[in-house]
Amino acid sequence: MTKHILPAILLALLVAACSKAPEPAKEAAPAATPQAAGNPAAGKSLAETKCANCHGLDGKGTAADIPNLAGQKAAYMQLAMQEYKAGKRAHAALQQLGMELSDAQLADITAYYAGLPAIKPASAAPADTGKQATAACAACHGADGNSSMAGTPSLAGQHAGYLVAALQAYKSGARKDATMAPQAAKLDAATIATIAAYYSTQTGKPRGAPAGANASAGEPLSGKCGGCHGGKGQSADAKFPSLAGQDHQYLAKSIKAYATGARANAEMKASVAGMKPQDIDSVAAFYASQEPKATTSKSMTAADWAARCDKCHAAGAENPAMVVPHIQGQQADYIDHALKAYRDGKRQQSAMHVMGVPLTDADIRIIADHYSALAPR
Ligand code: HEC
Ligand code: HEC
Ligand code: HEC
Ligand code: HEC
Repeated sequence: MTKHILPAILLALLVAACSKAPEPAKEAAPAATPQAAGNPAAGKSLAETKCANCHGLDGKGTAADIPNLAGQKAAYMQLAMQEYKAGKRAHAALQQLGMELSDAQLADITAYYAGLPAIKPASAAPADTGKQATAACAACHGADGNSSMAGTPSLAGQHAGYLVAALQAYKSGARKDATMAPQAAKLDAATIATIAAYYSTQTGKPRGAPAGANASAGEPLSGKCGGCHGGKGQSADAKFPSLAGQDHQYLAKSIKAYATGARANAEMKASVAGMKPQDIDSVAAFYASQEPKATTSKSMTAADWAARCDKCHAAGAENPAMVVPHIQGQQADYIDHALKAYRDGKRQQSAMHVMGVPLTDADIRIIADHYSALAPR
């Protein structure tokens, strides 16, 4: 009896904790099947020929997207191999290996890896929060991404994907701006993702059209922009920046820069080439006076996420009903990849799919950086 009730209660708690889950998970989480203890010495020689190329003989993944196995739970590794074998996780090489190896050989190999000391993460720096990462930006862009400086864009409520692309373009020099180039040069990829996640979840305030500008003359001109930027400049696609409520002077300057090619973008050049200065002024006034897109999600920090995930993944949170892997100190790119696989249904595991469904790519990056920087347990 209790065998069935326990997973049901856990799932009920999980679904309750996860407000945006589209539907309750249908299958129960896998039960921990007691495994025969393997022989680590026999496992070592098998690992040397079959696994070490990718997972190292020391259990450290030889590429950023190959998981560390050192110190991982044997029962979890065996379960994962069964999932590859059954096609519940996609990976051709592992599906093949899962079929080749007997249960006893697998028990030996996983006993070997489980007994190795866990790999220490290269940097144990605590993950940054969006607020800290944007401290240097606030003077111009505002603490919450609502700038009050004419000519400087607001970033609040902008698509995270667009913000990442813009910062990378300043960094690489593909987009030239003397103010932003030195700012972006200092940022690594993880910080860019944290910053983009932070601003995209702030609430934008309309900058408004300046006195004398003719927003109503701009409305019909916006007809040929709406296909990409959304009817009122509230873009639905991260490829296209939202324009609603953006600064008038910045909008006009950008449109002129696309027209001359000073800001290189073929789609934009085609859309605004030959536009009269008066029309540029009017269409910019139209967008500046629109209401910015309401943000759907609140900004979640690494600590907010950990509070949810550590219910199962914290040290000491042993759960008799499911085999929960160690994720502290795991390779960041691998955590990133695994979470996307659960979210996108490429790894079929109901507990983690439910956790993964509300995650954006930016959320996932924050989580991956957080856990990969923690000391392994
Ligand atoms: C060709 C490279 C390669 C070889 C050889 C290989 N692996 Fe892997 N392994 C990977 C990759 C890549 C992943 C992540 C796959 C995914 O996305 O699910 C992985 C994942 C795993 C996982 C899941 C870990 C987790 O944290 O979920 C286990 C367990 C595992 N491998 C065990 C083994 C064992 C045991 C062997 C030897 C018998 C082996 N692997 C051989 C590349 C390899
Ligand atoms: C000294 C003022 C200043 C500071 C400090 C500053 N910015 Fe900027 N930022 C600007 C200006 C001006 C622009 C417009 C540049 C252009 O026309 O390309 C801009 C543009 C941007 C854009 C492009 C927005 C869009 O809609 O395309 C992003 C993203 C951005 N900044 C992020 C940041 C971040 C992140 C920081 C902090 C690490 C930062 N900025 C610091 C002044 C500043
Ligand atoms: C075919 C799709 C497309 C159309 C149509 C289009 N745009 Fe764009 N627009 C883009 C893309 C893509 C970008 C981002 C380019 C980049 O990375 O610099 C952009 C960027 C912009 C920007 C810069 C925003 C910022 O935050 O830096 C402005 C302003 C803009 N567009 C205005 C317009 C106006 C006004 C029109 C209509 C006259 C228009 N666009 C029509 C695709 C389009
Ligand atoms: C109800 C318990 C539970 C909660 C809550 C939970 N997980 Fe998991 N997690 C699991 C289980 C069970 C697995 C193993 C699934 C499998 O076999 O694929 C897992 C697997 C993972 C993996 C794959 C690790 C690997 O080595 O392949 C990652 C990464 C992960 N979880 C991260 C998270 C994050 C981030 C959160 C919070 C957003 C979270 N988990 C919340 C139970 C949970």
